[in-house]
Amino acid sequence: MRVHVADHPLITHKLTVLRDKRTPSPLFRSLVEELMTLLAYEGTRGVRVEQVTVQTPVAEARGVQISDPKPLVVPILRAGLGMLEGMVKLLPTAEVGFLGMARNEETLEPTTYAERLPDDLSDRQCFVLDPMLATGGSLIAAIQFLFDRGAVDVTAICILAAPEGLAAVEKAMAGREVTIVLGAVDERLDEHGYIVPGLGDAGDRLYGLV
Ligand code: URA
Repeated sequence: MRVHVADHPLITHKLTVLRDKRTPSPLFRSLVEELMTLLAYEGTRGVRVEQVTVQTPVAEARGVQISDPKPLVVPILRAGLGMLEGMVKLLPTAEVGFLGMARNEETLEPTTYAERLPDDLSDRQCFVLDPMLATGGSLIAAIQFLFDRGAVDVTAICILAAPEGLAAVEKAMAGREVTIVLGAVDERLDEHGYIVPGLGDAGDRLYGLV
């Protein structure tokens, strides 16, 4: 597994405004989208391409195009939805699948409550969107779900991570074709599973308290 923390002043600047509790929802939403586009640029470095030739007005030029099957983008509901537009802006030919993950309050295990994905992900590159890598439980379950359907490699793009969650994903995915791209790694998790200092509940800040 590879971890890449995108280190860029624009990302840190936007992240700082995002963290600020005075930032209202409409601005929060557009910042998540902008941040996502910057993180998507980093996260798609390994996107599979094939060689093509085009004719310019002057001569033949060699280039590349994104290979088939096209990448699959999978936002994890609900907060991952806020990242989707920023991602597909950069990768407009990608297909989009959805995964809803929630914690079972009895077993504390992540469970899948909604799923709209192709049955067969053989040979697919998948990009999972989940803004907050906190305990890592839902991200591990989501990545495992995609591998179980045949995905060949998975990149998870997260805005913030806690070291505890990152370590859990690294342990669970050791030796697998997994890349995690992050805006920043924060200090720790608190006793309620919030990232510290973090930005609060990303879903609530995107969509309100529903
Ligand atoms: N999910 C969030 O939205 N925020 C956190 O800090 C942790 C998990």
